[in-house]
Amino acid sequence: MEKIVSLCKRRGFIFQSSEIYGGINGFWDYGPLGAELKRNLKDIWWRSMTQEREDMAGIDATIIMHPKIWDASGHTTTFADPMVDCLLSKKRFRADQVTPLTGTAWFWTGAVDKESGKACNDPFSMFQLPGKDANAVRKGALLFYKERGLEEPELQGETTKEVTESTQYNEENGSLLTEPRAFNLMLKTHVGPVESADNVAYLRPETAQAIFAQFKIVHEVSRKSVPFGICQIGKAFRNEINPRNFTFRSREFEQMEIEYFIRPDEVAATFGPLPEEDPGGEPQPNWGWKAWHAYWLRKRLEWYETIGLERDSLELYWQTPEELAHYAKATVDILYKFPFGTQELEGIAARGNFDLSQHQKFSGKSMEYYDEAAKTKYIPHVVEPSAGVDRMVLAVICHAYHEEIVTDEKGKSETRIVMKFHPRVAPIKVGIFPLLKNKPELVAKAREVQALLRPHMNVFYDDAGAIGRRYRRQDEAGTPFGVTIDFDTLGEDPILKDTVTLRDRDTMKQSRVHINDLLPTLLSKLQGPK
Ligand code: GAP
Repeated sequence: MEKIVSLCKRRGFIFQSSEIYGGINGFWDYGPLGAELKRNLKDIWWRSMTQEREDMAGIDATIIMHPKIWDASGHTTTFADPMVDCLLSKKRFRADQVTPLTGTAWFWTGAVDKESGKACNDPFSMFQLPGKDANAVRKGALLFYKERGLEEPELQGETTKEVTESTQYNEENGSLLTEPRAFNLMLKTHVGPVESADNVAYLRPETAQAIFAQFKIVHEVSRKSVPFGICQIGKAFRNEINPRNFTFRSREFEQMEIEYFIRPDEVAATFGPLPEEDPGGEPQPNWGWKAWHAYWLRKRLEWYETIGLERDSLELYWQTPEELAHYAKATVDILYKFPFGTQELEGIAARGNFDLSQHQKFSGKSMEYYDEAAKTKYIPHVVEPSAGVDRMVLAVICHAYHEEIVTDEKGKSETRIVMKFHPRVAPIKVGIFPLLKNKPELVAKAREVQALLRPHMNVFYDDAGAIGRRYRRQDEAGTPFGVTIDFDTLGEDPILKDTVTLRDRDTMKQSRVHINDLLPTLLSKLQGPK
């Protein structure tokens, strides 16, 4: 992972936000290569999930919405992690991530100030960390009482006890932690010039709620009938307690979400018996939530193949009944095998009609839909494939990273770092290299080739340094093809006039292609094997 993070910074894929000020935890910027990669992934998702389907409509909603949306969705009350604070260092941890400790715990009932006789009756406790003696433990306790206003505290009522697997202490300093408290993950702001409780607003923690809240209007204007989906790509914000694993858990990130509205099972059943398992094939009117859930899992796994994440690089995790949100009927997570562990890229949840019902209740506006074919009214149910853009970028980067030992004609070996992106997602599609930069005819021809290709794909012109070094730079950027304009292009060998060499990043093989054939050849190669 360290190598990947370092390459990302060195080559301008991803680096810390506000780098010159030391960065800001949980926020990341995408550099020139990263921005292209991210845009390609979003474009491919949007094109295949929206434009290439007749049953999907896209929206682009605001990040700040009416705060009641978050009351209806349950985020203001339940979107929280239980947190504990260290009583000495004031560091905050997620309660479920505290390391259990076994050993001796020390307790005090309070302390009295030697000079003034002032007492503090707050009990305190320290865990005796390995290698620490009684003095070190007492030092922690004295600090605790000093912070409570005693200048020279004398510890009172000291006892010790053996504890097993205790999660009440900070493993970094042994200090007692507070009881867990719910910490809401939504980032707050105020709308308008006055900062008061009346104008609190939230930066959306998911893009989904805008889709639910605007369901009625999008359904009307798009003239789609159930089953159909609404999708959106956009920023989401969560005040994550422990942002970590590079961009994997960030505080600002992007989501690509689909809310796919389906008939309730009892309505679908009027068209025929409901399939219990994945029925395969194209959607049918008698599909209930199980068939739709299986269908979306199948579609999303197929989609990952199109961006180069093959099936065997992914795993599935079916949430257990205890893990499911109370309204969810099933949730399956699509996981990628990151270097730091196998972790979630996307969740596909069958959410019943919870969200639309809640918005109907909180807004007082009907979310009912009249189904012409079934001749009945209902609140549609929903299947939600919800993916994170930043995690997908990270997965694609991790998947592409390769180190290879290559040996040149002189027998010299070196390590080649090559990003084997699927050509469809690669930030730059073609590098264009005049063999020498001080030969005007070569440069003119190379510029001609650049002008030919540029309207169709992202090209990069590079005339600096030896050709081998230029290839290596593009290997690190993950550019799948390189076009070199040499003396044969100019007609040194008349048979080869107006041909260029086309280098394949992965095999490093070169072939000669006529300039007239270059664009169609590249366009077909860019689609890749899938
Ligand atoms: N509307 C459902 C929803 O938001 P989620 O599982 O909380 O579900 C969906 O989020 C996806 O958003 C995740 O699978 C992940 O890819 C991405 N995501 C969530 N929190 C994230 C974070 N802190 N940083 C980066 N991506 C995140």
